[in-house]
Amino acid sequence: MNMTYIKKQRKTPETLRSHRWFGAQDLRAFGHRSRTMQMELDREDFVGKPVIGIVNTWSEINPCHTHLRARAENVKRGVWQAGGFPVELPAITLAETIQKPTTMMYRNLLAMETEELLRSYPIDGVVLLGGCDKTTPALVMGATSMNLPSIFLPAGPMLTARWRGQTLGSGSDQWKFWDERRMGNITEEEHQEVEASIARSPGTCMTMGTASTMATICEALGVSLPGASSIPAPDSGHGRMAAQCGKRIVEMVWEDMKIRDILTPKAFQNAATTLMANGGSTNAVIHLVAMAGRAGVELSLDDFNEVSARTPVLANIRPVGNTYLMEDFHYAGGLPALLREIESLLYLDAINCNGKTMGENISNAKIWNDDVIRRRENPVKSDGGLVVLRGNLAPDGAVLKTGAMDQKFLEHTGRAVVFDSYDHMVEQIDRDDLDVDENSILVLRNAGPLGGPGMPEWGMMPIPRKLLTQGVRDMVRISDARMSGTSYGTCVLHVSPESWVGGPLALIQTGDTISLNANTKTLDVLLSDEQLAERRKNWKTPPDKFPRGYGKLVMTHIQQADKGCDFDFLMGTEPIADPEIH
Ligand code: FES
Ligand code: MG
Repeated sequence: MNMTYIKKQRKTPETLRSHRWFGAQDLRAFGHRSRTMQMELDREDFVGKPVIGIVNTWSEINPCHTHLRARAENVKRGVWQAGGFPVELPAITLAETIQKPTTMMYRNLLAMETEELLRSYPIDGVVLLGGCDKTTPALVMGATSMNLPSIFLPAGPMLTARWRGQTLGSGSDQWKFWDERRMGNITEEEHQEVEASIARSPGTCMTMGTASTMATICEALGVSLPGASSIPAPDSGHGRMAAQCGKRIVEMVWEDMKIRDILTPKAFQNAATTLMANGGSTNAVIHLVAMAGRAGVELSLDDFNEVSARTPVLANIRPVGNTYLMEDFHYAGGLPALLREIESLLYLDAINCNGKTMGENISNAKIWNDDVIRRRENPVKSDGGLVVLRGNLAPDGAVLKTGAMDQKFLEHTGRAVVFDSYDHMVEQIDRDDLDVDENSILVLRNAGPLGGPGMPEWGMMPIPRKLLTQGVRDMVRISDARMSGTSYGTCVLHVSPESWVGGPLALIQTGDTISLNANTKTLDVLLSDEQLAERRKNWKTPPDKFPRGYGKLVMTHIQQADKGCDFDFLMGTEPIADPEIH
């Protein structure tokens, strides 16, 4: 474990990174200054001041980030007030509900863009604006590799949605009402009303899906200011938080407090504990491994099993809880209140970007509604609700969210019904002659990091219609895909290695027997090594999908899920020199 954070020597105007651009007395600096003055700025507005990049993933194509345009202005106000020079740097947005084939394919592209924006421009510190699912890890990964003073401002959850007297949760209710419509329990008109009601304001999904999970994780890591992770996006408090980020980042530059000073092994342990206590998204397992990799911190899938075993789920938020949403979580005290309740499980000396320790930041936090944020003695679930499985079907691991599934499947053996691709599954799943019953195990392959590509969120396969009409609402499903953080059901995900690269999932046939045991954390197909080896003789590497372009880069360099799906050439902490100025 690392030492407690020790304050460094304060920066001076001459030791700022941007000094090489703006402070020097040479021909190049003349150009940098004169062309900055072209933007109607006086010399003293920017020379000798911390230059603060605001990496903004605002876009008209991203409904979760519509307010980030305005929030960038709030950040700028804070930066100016604190004596810095703010510059907004637009970056590619990853709009979870719109981008194809999946935003996950582009997470590493945004990470690269973030890192290189910061490296190639005279940036001294950065405020990262994002929140929609993969934007969060991408921004933090890029900033971590660049290692400047950094603060992440989460976009904040959207307001609670309402329809005919009931509340609607992003994602979770989307799946639920789709099944009701497939069953004929609601009309098309009613379904359209749900469609118009389920997302009523700017902001990220307001369940404890991937966006809220990653926002709370960033707060627990210390890269967001305390309390930032649950402020509803349209709340005036969110705009004030943005301005506070602007003020604080300027001071962080003078203090020379860099993001890797914050992202220590203790910080990642706190983040994993927070994931479990929130009953958070399975996607976070992949992202945390990737983020740790960028920070040079060891974090393996097995660490999650240890943390899960000792951490109760206290956030009673959908989909693991069945009533409340992020707005309720915020007014119940937000993450600081939850963290205080589990403080014995945390490293309280881990440092936050505000310069204080976790212990100092949560010392006055209170739970205002202990049905929303439960007490230790009355948890939603007594353990973390997420297990990593291994076995001959997943030699490098698979993930199961035990907190959001029918508990009768914790130990289950059944007959495999195999789909070769997502299209194959869609074509077959509602057929009356599909040879399936409620004890069958649905298997989907070719949906992993390369197979998808980008591991689309296909892991919550629909229940076959013939079983749905019999009242079946959950069954065991296994894939190398991910699932949305708002999803639920007995879905074994992230099977590694994936079928595309010849993992055992590629060799399974309909009719094989598969055994899942969440108690012993095992996932096996009941076939001998010899039988598997025999089948492997007939397996062929699938043909290339991309003749050129970014897709080809992904297919060549993406790592498997257990390694966080980072590109091999982006991993690690090997120092890269600042660009030469010529
Ligand atoms: Fe953007 Fe869920 S779709 S956070
Ligand atoms: Mg999602």
